[in-house]
Amino acid sequence: MSHPDDRKDFAAHQVAQSRALGADRDVFNGSTDYMLSIDKYDYSYLWNWMGVPIIQMPADVMATQEVIWETKPDVIIETGVARGGSVLFMASLLELMGHGQVIGVDIDIRAHNRDSIESHPMSRRVTLIEGGSVDDGVLAAVRAEIPEGARVMVVLDSDHSRDHVLAECRAYGAMVTPGCYMVVADTMIGHVEEKEAPLNRSKKWFVGNEPLSALRDYMGECDLFEIDGALNGKLILSSSPGGYVRRK
Ligand SMILES: C[S@@+](CC[C@H](N)C(=O)[O-])C[C@H]1O[C@@H](n2cnc3c(N)ncnc32)[C@H](O)[C@@H]1O
Repeated sequence: MSHPDDRKDFAAHQVAQSRALGADRDVFNGSTDYMLSIDKYDYSYLWNWMGVPIIQMPADVMATQEVIWETKPDVIIETGVARGGSVLFMASLLELMGHGQVIGVDIDIRAHNRDSIESHPMSRRVTLIEGGSVDDGVLAAVRAEIPEGARVMVVLDSDHSRDHVLAECRAYGAMVTPGCYMVVADTMIGHVEEKEAPLNRSKKWFVGNEPLSALRDYMGECDLFEIDGALNGKLILSSSPGGYVRRK
């Protein structure tokens, strides 16, 4: 029995339902409440990528995979390496795709975390740069790693204070090439009031001093990026709803 080729219809249905989901505030608010309840158990700290802790919600791992496959960047810059799972995750995709390099920037790359990354089978696709993500020397070192004409994607996942993320957007936004993405992580905090703010973090962030405010300010001062409504619509149980923006 033959079946009609429904791939286009299936993809269109995915987009329509994702956008509809994104417009459903009740679901989104329920998702935020649920995330705060599971954060008591450090939910986003419970996962590993190929044996190395990745401090992400599973939905964001999938969303990042979609973006990388769709845009096929040559270089992915991530600020905020922590234990290395996210740089290794993105490096794995680049390895499967046969090209590309992840540049991981962190102010504090501890010896054991560097060892996890540098001894990993995906390590050849990772370059580590230690230092503050918006320091001039670090920015120069990052730029020096980007080959001429490379397609560049950026993930900002370091210090989540508004001022720092805004400074990162200004420093790294223009490095993103047209059609590629900038992912501003932890925009979910932009929906969390001070009294609900998680306390199990190095700093306490809540609405007003967080990445979503920074991204809104940045998008207000330059016209480089647009929000991907279909992708962001399905980002419930995600740390970064509204944080996936595409360079025009
Ligand atoms: C949320 S963790 C990163 C998680 C990682 N991306 C992952 O998914 O597994 C934040 C990291 O940002 C780093 N960091 C904090 N402030 C920074 C700064 N000013 N510049 C660069 N890295 C910074 C911290 O050392 C920490 O390792």
